[in-house]
Amino acid sequence: NNIQMESLSRPSLFDFYGVCMTKYFTDNWDNIQNFKAGPDDIVLASYPKAGNTWVSYILDLLYFGQTSPERQGSVPLHERVPFLEIQIPGFPSGVDALNELSTFPRIIKTHLPVQFLPKSFWEQNSKIIYVARNAKDTAVSYFHFDRMNKAQPEPGNWESFLQRFMEGKMVFGSWYEHVRGWWEKKQSSSNILYLFYEDLIEVKLGRICSFLGLSPTTELKKQVTEKVLFDSMKTNKMVNGSTDEVFDFKISPFMRKGRVGDWKNHFTVQQDEQFNEDYEKKMKNTDLLFRTVL
Ligand code: A3P
Repeated sequence: NNIQMESLSRPSLFDFYGVCMTKYFTDNWDNIQNFKAGPDDIVLASYPKAGNTWVSYILDLLYFGQTSPERQGSVPLHERVPFLEIQIPGFPSGVDALNELSTFPRIIKTHLPVQFLPKSFWEQNSKIIYVARNAKDTAVSYFHFDRMNKAQPEPGNWESFLQRFMEGKMVFGSWYEHVRGWWEKKQSSSNILYLFYEDLIEVKLGRICSFLGLSPTTELKKQVTEKVLFDSMKTNKMVNGSTDEVFDFKISPFMRKGRVGDWKNHFTVQQDEQFNEDYEKKMKNTDLLFRTVL
């Protein structure tokens, strides 16, 4: 697929119904919006870099770790958990991949803000897990991701990236609106489980399992817990992003640090003060609270 990769260009951001997006997530819009959900579909939603891959792998292991162990060594995670809105030339679209998926239930990755989720999921009352991560670590992780992902806009330098993060000029829009939009929706929807990256560090399988109605054996729980540790995932070629052709690991690995508080190595004192001041304005009158250190 090298020829396609060479012709793949970094996309530009544009305003799409009030949210910054790129063509790779909007070109297939009608098919995304008309997506037919099934009652057993499980949606895994998050703003980029919140830990979607981590939770995908937890769910994949819970559902298929014992029934289809061969999958673990042969099918990359991004094929097991298709990405609903992705449409990159030369690769199957997320919608097509989902419609061709032969395993059940389907676990579906999305970064869509709540107002863009195809309505069929609400009609089917599908179970939805939302993962949120504190803004500072998300911004740092997103910066390194945009450096190494050739299907994302150029990040520029850290200072300018951070300014744009605060302005919501990122792919999938404003972090502030994303986490708040889903949080508000959750207040009235019992089919949404809202998880925090900072809590996953001490993997809380219990909450996920009770939400999904699963009762894994002690043996499976032990296996999942070990396999989803950062260091195990980092060396697992099927889940560490090394099969993803748009990534350039020479610039930065996909499984980068996996910590809470790495923002301290990037934010200057001045950037931190400015960020906090702006954060308080944007996040006032919400009871949504994040931990930025453990
Ligand atoms: P860092 O860049 O801070 O390391 P997403 O999958 O939503 O794109 O999120 C990617 C972020 O989640 C990356 O953060 C990645 O390292 C982190 N991550 C993935 N698996 C993890 C794990 N098992 N434990 C801790 N962090 C993990």
